[in-house]
Amino acid sequence: MGLSFIDQPAVKQIHLVDPSEDVIKVLKNKLIDSYITKKEFVSVHKLKGQEIILNPESKIIFIAGMGGKEIGEIITHLLPQLSPEDRLVISPHRNILELRKQLHLSDLNLVDETVLKEEGQFYQIICLSKSSIGPKVSLYGSKIWDGVSGKEYRQHQIRTFINHQDQASRDFVAHLKQLSH
Ligand SMILES: C[S@@+](CC[C@H](N)C(=O)[O-])C[C@H]1O[C@@H](n2cnc3c(N)ncnc32)[C@H](O)[C@@H]1O
Repeated sequence: MGLSFIDQPAVKQIHLVDPSEDVIKVLKNKLIDSYITKKEFVSVHKLKGQEIILNPESKIIFIAGMGGKEIGEIITHLLPQLSPEDRLVISPHRNILELRKQLHLSDLNLVDETVLKEEGQFYQIICLSKSSIGPKVSLYGSKIWDGVSGKEYRQHQIRTFINHQDQASRDFVAHLKQLSH
């Protein structure tokens, strides 16, 4: 995903981060073998997100493909290093309610959010900023339930969470059912 930004004129550096030796090997080989332009803009780092030291230039940080707990830990680590111009784009795979609660209580505000469906799976994508413009992140999401895909996602989430017995899941289902009326 990081490499897809390579031809954007405003992009001066791309840092690809992953703690897995195997993933880093694949990325490095991909860079060597590919026709990617401006390879000198790309750096690969074998690191956990919780270990990253950010540079002071403006940046967009993408954290995708991990559970909400892991993403929450990375955000806690990055938050003091972020400036108001930076953007954080996250796509958590699990524990989204817990992560949204953390974000709601944090210094981050919502820039935009959407949901997309790929190969039968739904993915929330949430863009955040430390700038004071924009609302707080809501506990259940707002725009993500709009439109045709939002409606489909809502039905999917009701079917998933209705089987959970904990109070947070029950409150979530009640909220989603209310939106459907
Ligand atoms: C499902 S894959 C998603 C890959 C990525 N979103 C992509 O398509 O470019 C999850 C990746 O997260 C990495 N990962 C797991 N824990 C991490 C952490 N704490 N910090 C950074 N990356 C992590 C894994 O090694 C794995 O490569």
